[in-house]
Amino acid sequence: MATEVASESPSAPASGSDVIIETRNLSKVYRDFWGRLKVRALKALDLKIHRGEIFGLLGPNGSGKSTTIKLMLGLLFPTGGRVLVFDKDATDARKNERIGYLPEESYLYKFLNAEETLDFYGRLFDMTAVQRKERIRELIDMVGLDWAKRRPLREYSKGMTRRIGLAQALINDPDLILLDEPTTGLDPLGTADMKDLILRLKDEGKTVLLCSHLLPDIQDVCDRVAILHQGELKELGRLDDLLTVRNELEFRAKNIGDSARREIEEVIKKHGGEVLSVDQATNTLADLFLSIVRESEERPGRRAETEPSKETGAADDNGDSPL
Ligand SMILES: Nc1ncnc2c1ncn2[C@@H]1O[C@H](COP(=O)(O)OP(=O)(O)OP(=O)(O)O)[C@@H](O)[C@H]1O
Ligand SMILES: [Mg+2]
Repeated sequence: MATEVASESPSAPASGSDVIIETRNLSKVYRDFWGRLKVRALKALDLKIHRGEIFGLLGPNGSGKSTTIKLMLGLLFPTGGRVLVFDKDATDARKNERIGYLPEESYLYKFLNAEETLDFYGRLFDMTAVQRKERIRELIDMVGLDWAKRRPLREYSKGMTRRIGLAQALINDPDLILLDEPTTGLDPLGTADMKDLILRLKDEGKTVLLCSHLLPDIQDVCDRVAILHQGELKELGRLDDLLTVRNELEFRAKNIGDSARREIEEVIKKHGGEVLSVDQATNTLADLFLSIVRESEERPGRRAETEPSKETGAADDNGDSPL
């Protein structure tokens, strides 16, 4: 498969303002206490991430995704190669004012509530009290936590913690947002909200890099993806290019009877094509789940009919059950 790996020259300079992140031959080796080689977490990674794109880092557990993000933030030092962010070396702390970061593990103070948490982080960015108040209101509303904003974070569920983490990452209205597994712990509704938020950030002109091993998360929002495996870049390109199956077409139609279907299959054969599959259309489980939860929010109280028992006879109802 054609990839951009070959076309991107590792030694080319960061091309002005359009390239927001560039990694050149980036490598990371973790060593143990005695300096002995422990893990080669990242091997000679060359990437360019452009302004305004949503870029997905995809890979199985331990493939080097979080390591790459931490190197971009300057939280880790590379063993070899470089990372440039906004044309500055990643170790230059000044660039962090324009970056928002959602780490994979929450590190928020459990005894603060949502408003206090965001106020704390707002102060780190030198925002005035008025600016902070307005931004905090906007962000709490954006991540859907208005109803819980006065509760201490120790009482938050996993999904609520993820949402306040995202709000924290956006407090400084960053131009570049790095999200490490943003949908971890979120239910399908929260996941859909998170994807909407990411797309909204793109509409505002922000650059977003997210990493995940959850394929639908990446597929639904990313413009380009890089696939890592054991610290090596295995694939890089536009998602639509990577996923398009060149010589196959898909039709979806409704109200087609058996004879029309046979006719269509004949036409395909007549033109030298091959019918690969004709299936009854189905929704994904995520679609079903979302539609049920949304309908339940609109019409509270409706409950599903219980499935009729497959057992005949009234053994369950006559009080003779051994349980
Ligand atoms: N502080 C550390 N010390 C030693 N090895 C580490 C350290 N952090 C990560 N590693 C190792 O580096 C490799 C890459 O880890 P990394 O956390 O970057 O993977 P990941 O792709 O983010 O995985 P996951 O999907 O599980 O979050 C793994 O083999 C891991 O064990
Ligand atoms: Mg990780």
